[in-house]
Amino acid sequence: MFNTRTKIKALLQSEPTGQEVIVMGWVRTFRNNQFIALNDGSTNHNIQIVVELGLLDEATLKRITTGASLKVIGEVVPSLGKGQKVEVKAKTVEILGDSDAEKYPLQPKKHSLEFLREIAHLRFRTNTFGAVFRIRHSLAFAVHQFFNEKGFVYLHTPIITSSDAEGAGEMFRVTTLPLENPPLNEDGSINYKEDFFGKSTNLTVSGQLEGELGAMAFSEIYTFGPTFRAENSNTTRHLAEFWMIEPEMAFYDIEDNMNLAEAFIKYLIRYAMEHNMEDLEFLDQRLAEEEKQKPQAERTEMGLLEKLRFVVDNDFERITYTEAINILLDSPAYKKKKFKYEVSWGIDMQSEHERYLVEKHFKKPVIVTGYPAAIKAFYMRMNEDGKTVAAMDILAPGIGEIVGGSQREERLDRLEQRMRDMHIPAEEMSWYLDTRRFGTVPHAGFGLGFERMVQFVTGMGNIRDVIAFARTPQNCEF
Ligand code: 4AD
Ligand code: MG
Repeated sequence: MFNTRTKIKALLQSEPTGQEVIVMGWVRTFRNNQFIALNDGSTNHNIQIVVELGLLDEATLKRITTGASLKVIGEVVPSLGKGQKVEVKAKTVEILGDSDAEKYPLQPKKHSLEFLREIAHLRFRTNTFGAVFRIRHSLAFAVHQFFNEKGFVYLHTPIITSSDAEGAGEMFRVTTLPLENPPLNEDGSINYKEDFFGKSTNLTVSGQLEGELGAMAFSEIYTFGPTFRAENSNTTRHLAEFWMIEPEMAFYDIEDNMNLAEAFIKYLIRYAMEHNMEDLEFLDQRLAEEEKQKPQAERTEMGLLEKLRFVVDNDFERITYTEAINILLDSPAYKKKKFKYEVSWGIDMQSEHERYLVEKHFKKPVIVTGYPAAIKAFYMRMNEDGKTVAAMDILAPGIGEIVGGSQREERLDRLEQRMRDMHIPAEEMSWYLDTRRFGTVPHAGFGLGFERMVQFVTGMGNIRDVIAFARTPQNCEF
């Protein structure tokens, strides 16, 4: 058996009684031909390996370079150095894999996030990305724990679909037809009957519609999977491939929906604070240093941990779309013509408007309800006024929209009318309309963008830095 190692996280917490251990990991630094800082990704802290003079020959010492992988057998002893309780006094050091110091791109110094994005295959080995991806893991685990505790069924909705759930037309096509010479109909259009599925198909933009089918039997379901949007948005908040959590609940109205979403976000934050404090503290420090480089006026008022505590301890603000527009119209920013985009009732709020509301006006997460029907998807429930729908978006400081959701239109006639108005072919959606034909109930749901949530918890400014390998316009490396 090869793997009888002790993980560095556990080792650092153990009592140094001279016990023998096997440690494996990658070299971060090697000082004075004597002190190796070894890391195995279980924690950001390294174990110090002490190599006594004379233990290793000259040739072996030369191979202990940053990035090389080692197997060390040694004794756990109290550390004389600062910063750690224990260290390992090496008995044997075996080099598992060399790393040419001339060529290894990661040096023991601070690299820019932009540079690390180019070597995303190695960036997990840095302190920043170690922390980010351990937290991402924890949050994913907490998503399942939250819904499991509430008795929701995890439904795996399809990745390939033939519908455009959001009706926004931002889909990646899936086909096996030859691009150069596709079969054509008489009118010159592509004949998808000859395609793999016998119809035109795409990668899913959302699992919601299938999620609703599940909710009409299990009462409460959630999805958690990858979704795809071919929107040409090159921003720090958009990915072409992102992960989304979509709960869907029968017997829920818009208020129940808001309560669940708020409780969910707070639960995720609390989970990370209980399980990832070391990594959060590291990122808190990192962010504080980054903030110091900025001019005073651009600095955020709260540190990362302070912000997370604040969000967990306070109620989200709840306002209507109409109130939001009025706040914007009354704002000094509007009066001084600071907004690039226009403000009037009916607009789809731009990120500058959303950020004004959460960062300047309320200084906390805000839930906005009652959006104009004209700017929202067909499935949202029409309000009594006939012009707004029971939609809810949650806007978060530093992020903007983090959740989008609604109460669904459960009344068949209204839904069919809405679909006609929006030119959505009802024949292809009869499976969806069946839920309204057979035992329809009030129901609601929402989608949380997982990467935006990870950004919020880690304080990372660019969404490309919270997903392992980002897919964005003109970029699909790795
Ligand atoms: O607001 P959206 O488009 O809503 C839906 O897809 C609904 N079907 C959800 C539902 O009610 N079940 O997307 C939901 C969330 C957004 O609030 C945002 O956090 C995230 O998904 N999101 C993106 N994240 C990263 N990159 C993108 N291109 C995103 N588009 C949406
Ligand atoms: Mg949205």
